[in-house]
Order: sequence, then structure tokens, then C-alpha cells
Amino acid sequence: MIIVNRIGKHLGAEIAGVDLAQPMDDNEFAKISKAFFDNEVVVFRNQKITPEQQIAFTRRFGVLEQHVRKEHRLDGYPEILIVSNVLDARGQAIGVEDAGRFWHSDLSYKQMPSLLSALYAIEVPIKDGRVLGPTNFASTTAAYDALPEDLKRKLGGLKNVHSYVYYRNKNIQAQREEQARGARAVQEHVLTDEQLKQVPDAESPIVRTHPVTARKGLFINEAHTSHIVGLPRAESDALLKQLCAHIIKPEFQYEHHWQAGDLLMWDNCAAQHKANFNYDLPLRRLMYRTTVRGSAPF
Ligand code: SIN
Repeated sequence: MIIVNRIGKHLGAEIAGVDLAQPMDDNEFAKISKAFFDNEVVVFRNQKITPEQQIAFTRRFGVLEQHVRKEHRLDGYPEILIVSNVLDARGQAIGVEDAGRFWHSDLSYKQMPSLLSALYAIEVPIKDGRVLGPTNFASTTAAYDALPEDLKRKLGGLKNVHSYVYYRNKNIQAQREEQARGARAVQEHVLTDEQLKQVPDAESPIVRTHPVTARKGLFINEAHTSHIVGLPRAESDALLKQLCAHIIKPEFQYEHHWQAGDLLMWDNCAAQHKANFNYDLPLRRLMYRTTVRGSAPF
């Protein structure tokens, strides 16, 4: 029997009674899908699943993306992006080492941003009995609901530009600053022109209607939003900063503490997330991510 326990105030639930390695009928899937969209972030604990099983389960929600960073897709499984700090025998990073450094929703810079992502924890870093590397989530729907009515009206007519190039430059700058403070260099291939062509900037409404629940939420984030369309630079920067700070207020957040075997899913139309890098090698963190394509925001 499927049991859904809320674990966060505005988002976050644990779904028990499900073995994702087993075939699932439409009735069970419908219950899981409802619990997921109601709770924005859900975790299935103690799962033992293969890449095929992760792909098969998440594919039931829609078409799976293949990340533009080809070099970090799992061999033989282009739908799986490796998120990891692990190095191979030649000292090369096997996955994206610093995914989620800034608050964001996945692939928000695409014309059809992601509907949801699923991250499966294979290895988690443990020090002195404590698991490091939690992931924080913030509900963009709860954040929208809490805005004053006059600001909601103003935002209703505004669009923002989500840009992968903007994000890359911001991330590279952050990596340089960290290295200057003594951190290990993050390994990453420079994107080819052909890869960059796959991710042109995208213009989206700041107030987005959820394609499944019809709830309104804020679709703007510190990682990918380069500016707000039609506003002078200073005004755009100030509003962007104000909204991003509002979304991540502690009351809208849920912090996920990982266990190996967690399959965590988040709704990219209703939540943002951010990783925490409070660990490093020799502590290993290895996760597989699948990402379901969404629809054009409206
Ligand atoms: C991500 O942003 O996809 C990864 C989050 C994490 O590794 O905690």
C-alpha cells in the first residue's frame, strides 16, 4: 500500500510502500503522480534500481532529456546524467562535479523547460556518522502565494530571459573565486559551438501557471535568469534580486538529507533547488539524474 507522509511545510513528502524495481500498474502510477504533483518534492527511500529501471519509471511522466553535456552522460544510457565528484582511473571527472551551485530549476533555459527531475543516490559522503551534501528545495508556488497583490499584478505582465551562457559564465566566475580560496579545480569541458547552438536563450513569463496543477508560481532564478525583459538594467537587477531572495526564504524551503538508495523527485515547475558542497574527495558522492521534458511556460 502506498503511504504518503508530508515532511516539509510547503513541499516535500516521503512515499513509502513502493518498490521502483517492480512493474507498476496504471493505478499505482496515478497515485504516485498525484502525490508528486501535490507535494512538489518526493522521496522513495531504500530503492535498489538499475539505470534501466530509473529510466523506465521516470519515462512514465514524459519524454526524457539527454543533457547537452554529453561527456557526463552514463555510458549506454544517454538519458542519465551523472552528478558526482568521483574521478576515474585517469583522474577525469565521471560526472558534473558542481551541479546545482546556484538556486535553479533544471533546464529552465530551454524553450521547453523540464517538468521534473529524479536523482538516485548511489553513494553519499559520510563523515563522523553524518551524511554531507544535502540538497535544498524552495516552493515557488508558496512563494508566489505569499506576494502582495500589487506585486503579483505587476509581475503578471513581465517576462524574464533564461540563459545557459549567462549561467556558464557565472559558474566559471564562482569556480575561479573558490579556487582562489584553495578549493580543488572543477573539471569541465568547454562547450562546443554545436552544443551552444542547442541551448539558445529562452524568454518566459515570471509568473508561470503549472501545466498539471494550474497553480501559479515564480519562474525566475539566480542561476539562469540574465534579466527581466523591458526594464532598465538597474531595475531588472533589483527586481531579480528581490524575487530570488523571496523564493528562498526559510519558510518556503525543505532540506533533503540523503541516504544511499533514495530516489528523489522534484517538480521543476513548482520548486527550485540548490546543492551544498560541504564535502570533497576522498568522500564520494555518486548520483544518477533523469530529467523529464516539459512544455513551453505560460
Ligand atoms: C542538481 O542540481 O541537479 C543536483 C543537486 C544535488 O546534487 O544536490
